[in-house]
Amino acid sequence: MQLSYFISDSDFKTISSIVYDATGIVLKINKKNLVISRLIKRLNTLGIPNFREYVDLLDDPLFFNKELPYIVNCLTTNTTNFFREPHQFEILKKILPSILEYGNKKNCHNLRIWSSACSTGEEPYTIAMVLSECMEYIRGWNVQILSTDIDSDVLSRASKGVYEPERMKNVPQNYLNKYFNRVKTYHGEGYKISDNIRKMIIFRQVNLINDTFKFNSPVDIIFCRNVVIYFDDIGKQKLMNKFIEVLRSGGYFFLGHSETLLLYGKQFKFIESAVYQKA
Ligand SMILES: C[S@@+](CC[C@H](N)C(=O)[O-])C[C@H]1O[C@@H](n2cnc3c(N)ncnc32)[C@H](O)[C@@H]1O
Repeated sequence: MQLSYFISDSDFKTISSIVYDATGIVLKINKKNLVISRLIKRLNTLGIPNFREYVDLLDDPLFFNKELPYIVNCLTTNTTNFFREPHQFEILKKILPSILEYGNKKNCHNLRIWSSACSTGEEPYTIAMVLSECMEYIRGWNVQILSTDIDSDVLSRASKGVYEPERMKNVPQNYLNKYFNRVKTYHGEGYKISDNIRKMIIFRQVNLINDTFKFNSPVDIIFCRNVVIYFDDIGKQKLMNKFIEVLRSGGYFFLGHSETLLLYGKQFKFIESAVYQKA
C-alpha cells in the first residue's frame, strides 16, 4: 500500500479538535508534522492509505469510539526522566517533616501523594525512592502514591517498572543498587524497580480534563509537572479548580519549571522552584 503523508488544513483541524475535546491538549497548525509522524503508523496498521479516508472514517461513531484511545495515545507527549528537575526532590525531602507533623497532629498516619500525569512511571518511582530514603520519618506511615495518566500505553509500561539502561543515567548509583534489579528484557538487559518501591504505587487511568476526581481523603502533595503546558487557559482553570478541591489546606503542589500558577496566586503560596503550598 502506498501511504500519503499529506494532511489538509481541514482534516488537521478535525483531528486537533478531537484531541482537544478528549484531552484538553491544544495542537496548533504548526504541529501538522507531529500529527502526521505520530499517526502515520496507525494508518499503516489499519491499511488506510491517506488522512482524507481516515478522517472520513472518524465520522462513523463505531469507528470513532474504537479509534479514540489510539489517537490519544499517539498524540500525547510522554517525555519524562528519573529525577527530572532534581531540585524539586530536595524540596520534597525538606517539606516532608511539616507534612508528617500535620498528620501527627490529626493522628492520621496516611501520606497521600498524587503523580497526576505520570507517563512511563519515572516520576512516581523517583518520589517513592526519595521517600524511602527518609524511612526514619515515615516508618509506620501508610504511604500511597497514586499515579495516573490518560495514556494507557505509558501506564502499562509504568506498571511493569522495567527500564532500558539508557533511561537510568540520572539515577544515582546507590539508588540503582538499592532499588533496582537487573533483568533480561526483549531488547537485552534492563532494570526492574524493586517490589518494595513498586508496592507504594497505584497506577490508574485518569483524564485530568474530563474525569471527575473521587478521593476518599484529601491529598497531601500533587505533582502535575510538564502537562499543563499542553492546555489552554480554559483547560488550566478547569484542572486547577479540581486540584484545589482534592488538595488539603497546607498541601503542596509541584509544577514543571516552565509552568506557572500565577493566575491562581490567591489560593497558593509560592515556595520555590515551581513548588507551591495551598493556603
Ligand atoms: C511530558 S509528560 C510529563 C511526565 C512527568 N510528569 C514528568 O514531568 O516527567 C506529560 C504526560 O501528560 C499526559 N497527559 C496529557 N493530557 C492528559 C490529560 N488530559 N489527562 C491526563 N494525562 C494527560 C500525557 O499522556 C503524558 O504522559
